[in-house]
Amino acid sequence: MSDLSQRIDENIARVADFPQEGIQYKDITSLFQNPALCAEIVDAFAEFSRGKIDVVCGIESRGFLFGIQIAQKLNLPFVLIRKQGKLPPPTIAESYELEYGSATIEVQPQYIQKGMRALIHDDVLATGGTAEASAKLIEKCGGVVTQFSFIADLTFLNGKEKLSHFTEDIQSLVGY
Ligand code: PRP
Ligand code: MG
Repeated sequence: MSDLSQRIDENIARVADFPQEGIQYKDITSLFQNPALCAEIVDAFAEFSRGKIDVVCGIESRGFLFGIQIAQKLNLPFVLIRKQGKLPPPTIAESYELEYGSATIEVQPQYIQKGMRALIHDDVLATGGTAEASAKLIEKCGGVVTQFSFIADLTFLNGKEKLSHFTEDIQSLVGY
């Protein structure tokens, strides 16, 4: 584990029995109590993506937190991938399966030009369903997904397997 990974891990709060009994929830929002560490996290994400992307796409809602900061740092546009019904038209949608039921996400296609290289950013990679659907959505708009970045990868859920056919350039600052 790198020094930065270790400090991120130490600053992620653990909450017992949330959202279900027996689950130890990792609350990444505790990172925002440490602004100096947050600045380092933004730098690490920005260096990973510098020169490799034309747009940052952040996934609602926690993917917005660092996503917008990465875009600002790299002086690139930021595009919001939102849950259904939140964005005004025109929108393009993509649905995906959850453990129980399904979910739909949307994007405003006018912000993705043909051939644009996109970073998909989110806080946590779990099963990979949300990030995979986001990548499909960006490709439907004509973009090319060249990178994914996450604060944390719950590696035991193998989410990365769903993403590697888009690109192998996948960054996670901590793995569990
Ligand atoms: C969580 C997390 C990721 C997603 C990962 O979001 O922030 O976006 O789940 O899960 P997956 O890899 O299995 O698809 P959540 O739906 O809890 O919403 P939030 O970010 O708005 O809190
Ligand atoms: Mg989320």
